[in-house]
Amino acid sequence: MTTRRFLMCAPLLLGAATASGQMQSIIDSPHNLSAAGPGAVRALSEEQICVFCHPPHQSAPIQPLWNRLLPVTGYAVYTSNALDAEPGQPTGASKLCLSCHDGTIALGSVVSRNTTIQMASGITTLPPGASNLGTDLSDDHPISFPYETMLAVRDPQLLNPDLLPAELPLDSAGELQCTTCHDAHNNWHGDFLNMSNADSVMCRSCRRMWPAHLSEFRKLQGSCWTRRYCLSLSAATIQLRFRWSGPSRNRFM
Ligand code: HEC
Ligand code: HEC
Ligand code: HEC
Repeated sequence: MTTRRFLMCAPLLLGAATASGQMQSIIDSPHNLSAAGPGAVRALSEEQICVFCHPPHQSAPIQPLWNRLLPVTGYAVYTSNALDAEPGQPTGASKLCLSCHDGTIALGSVVSRNTTIQMASGITTLPPGASNLGTDLSDDHPISFPYETMLAVRDPQLLNPDLLPAELPLDSAGELQCTTCHDAHNNWHGDFLNMSNADSVMCRSCRRMWPAHLSEFRKLQGSCWTRRYCLSLSAATIQLRFRWSGPSRNRFM
């Protein structure tokens, strides 16, 4: 996404959003970090919503899209003998998410201001909890790797990336990022998901699931992604659940 396209899109998004209710969904979501935001994590007095992630519109034309310092920490990334993709350090939009969600950078630290925006209740970085992924991403879904046809050829469980639904976009480099599954602006499906994951439909968009897998998932709260299940890829339970069925190797699990 170039700055130019961002600047052209922003007024559109604002305009269209008011009509479609999309603004409503960021306003009512935990990503509204303004003082009026609905969550416990919000600013003391800052009224703007977009400023936590984007520079204000009236700033210099060369202003970057992003208003945050990107994390540079060395992350522990997902590794597995069973994974054909080789995720490296986070790239692209995933770094944007991690600039808050790894819990190392102050939420109110934005490039367009000299001083850090003060948060209510003395909060600085993202408080501990499910939303704080930390810098150890080895138990999260792998990100920042090219999801390319060859990967699907090598891995019988993966569907060809051409079959991905429009709701699960790869980035312009063909990489799978946080934004493949999440949209920071839209909490319509909960957890800022790009689509509903009812009956594991999101997981099944990429993964060819053996009926035995699916029926196991259905027993577990009706979806492959009960809290941390698909995310906790290295969890022993998942390994066990899958060892007995399907092909000999289970990628991502
Ligand atoms: C919590 C962080 C966050 C907030 C708050 C936020 N955005 Fe974004 N925005 C993002 C991320 C991340 C991207 C990049 C998405 C990508 O690369 O797929 C983005 C991209 C965009 C884009 C580029 C088009 C697109 O969808 O990719 C527009 C336009 C935009 N945001 C508008 C806004 C407006 C207007 C607001 C305030 C109402 C806002 N954003 C608030 C995180 C945020
Ligand atoms: C400016 C900081 C910031 C950025 C950037 C940001 N988030 Fe968040 N996000 C938050 C905060 C704060 C919460 C609320 C955490 C809490 O209440 O414990 C949150 C909550 C969430 C939640 C949980 C939603 C819920 O209903 O509980 C998800 C999922 C999420 N963010 C995904 C993302 C993704 C994906 C990106 C990048 C596209 C992103 N966030 C970028 C600050 C951010
Ligand atoms: C392959 C899809 C996918 C990718 C990639 C992905 N997520 Fe998620 N994420 C999900 C799903 C599905 C859930 C809902 C889990 C649930 O229902 O418990 C979720 C939940 C979350 C939550 C809520 C807390 C939790 O653990 O349940 C946060 C925060 C979050 N994701 C952030 C991120 C960030 C940041 C990235 C990139 C580093 C990312 N996600 C990459 C699918 C994904």
